[in-house]
Amino acid sequence: MPQAQQTTTRTVPGSIPYLGHAVGFAARPLKFLSEQRALGDITAISLGPHQARIVNDPALVRELLVSRTKEFTKAGLLYDLNSAFVGNGLAVSEGPFHRRQRRLMQPAFQRSRMPAYHLGMQQAAEVMTGRWRSGQPVDIHKDLFQLAVQVIGNMLYKDRFTNEMTDQIVWAVSTAAKGIGWRSLIPLSWTHTLPTPEFRRFTNAQQVLHRLGDLVVAEHRKLEDADPDHFLSMLLAARDEHGEPLSDKELRDEVVTLFSAGSVTVATTLAWALHLISINPDVEQRIHAEVVEVLDGRPVTAADLPRLEHLGRVITEVLRLYPPSWLLPRIAPEDTELGGHRIPRGTHVFSSPYSIHHDPRYYPDPERFAPDRWLPERSANRSREVYLPFGAGIHQCIGNNFALTEATIALATIAVGWSLCRPPRAKVGTRRTALLEPVGLTLIARRRPAPATPCPS
Ligand code: HEM
Repeated sequence: MPQAQQTTTRTVPGSIPYLGHAVGFAARPLKFLSEQRALGDITAISLGPHQARIVNDPALVRELLVSRTKEFTKAGLLYDLNSAFVGNGLAVSEGPFHRRQRRLMQPAFQRSRMPAYHLGMQQAAEVMTGRWRSGQPVDIHKDLFQLAVQVIGNMLYKDRFTNEMTDQIVWAVSTAAKGIGWRSLIPLSWTHTLPTPEFRRFTNAQQVLHRLGDLVVAEHRKLEDADPDHFLSMLLAARDEHGEPLSDKELRDEVVTLFSAGSVTVATTLAWALHLISINPDVEQRIHAEVVEVLDGRPVTAADLPRLEHLGRVITEVLRLYPPSWLLPRIAPEDTELGGHRIPRGTHVFSSPYSIHHDPRYYPDPERFAPDRWLPERSANRSREVYLPFGAGIHQCIGNNFALTEATIALATIAVGWSLCRPPRAKVGTRRTALLEPVGLTLIARRRPAPATPCPS
């Protein structure tokens, strides 16, 4: 254990017998996170029988995620629950296996590779807006979830990816996310497998994902003209140190990982973006003016993306206000310390992009949606430690370029032809599953030029 001066870790008030802070944390996690932040750089809580720490100081979060990853690993209940779906895929694996998989998959996600995915992203956005009818309500989260799954399907399976497959994956991933969300906050594992209808849906979702993952891999094997830079081609060609290829199960795990990690996160970001744009008409106006000027009537291309500067700042700000991955869990496999705080072996160690992004020390007026806080002259002095929507370090999101490209293409496609308004009296809430998602988000799609009349209810 590194030698450091010991600091007292303050325990968050409100612990109750047997359950500790589990109830308070599960019921209102965002409020809980904000309140505990005032108690120090690191605070102590207990979740049932488990000891946990919440790391609030961005420099210590960096140590946790970037420089001391052997001392703070991805392990524990959330990863065990996820493994039931994604096996040992990239999002849950650790150590040499994770390093190898990451090395193999990285080239498919490099910025230079993004133009290969543009068409699939653009087509999915056009299919979605093609279904909208002017003046009709749109269930935003549902449509965007379908869009995001379709984009991954287009990437992996090209035009053989059917609407039926999209619907099955949307259902399976959302059922899994809900089930994993509540199970991860209630660490009493006997409650997780009670033979309820919910548990049956949970296991059914697992089978659906595995079946579709197997199909995508099997079909890719059959392709004679497969692009050698396709990420499945790279995984199929890979050999380990003994000359062995990845097994079918390992390949399927990575496919399922992409469908789950790469869909609902993007859908959630886009849903929050459309919500915020709908209640900030000045922002909507600026985005529309920008896309009209830059695209000049053409569909969006790779060359346009860096020129959509205001839209880029909007996406950056959406991910600050509502980072879908609001909590990043790790575990200390051995006794250690962090910032002078003792961390006993087996302690769960959480960092929260949400909490850091809402800390007024780093973002004045943190609850305000203000894309211009990202203008170069206003953000040049802000440390990158305080912006973590994609995490940091060896587990940083491999799909960050993919997600930003997809979000820009989808929002630009919508902004050219549509204005989405919020019906009066509509109430949007926040649901915290494994992600931070909007609920009740129905907007009225109006084809441009949008009527000057108020939004219909
Ligand atoms: C706006 C959308 C997205 C957000 C906010 C997001 C966020 C994150 C975060 C915070 C992590 C790190 C988790 C941790 O350290 O515990 C992560 C990891 C990961 N993400 Fe994303 N993600 C997004 C989109 C995507 C997309 C589009 C893909 C794939 C197509 C993807 C695939 C992955 C994978 C495979 C990992 C695990 C990486 C590793 O451990 O090496 N994500 N993501």
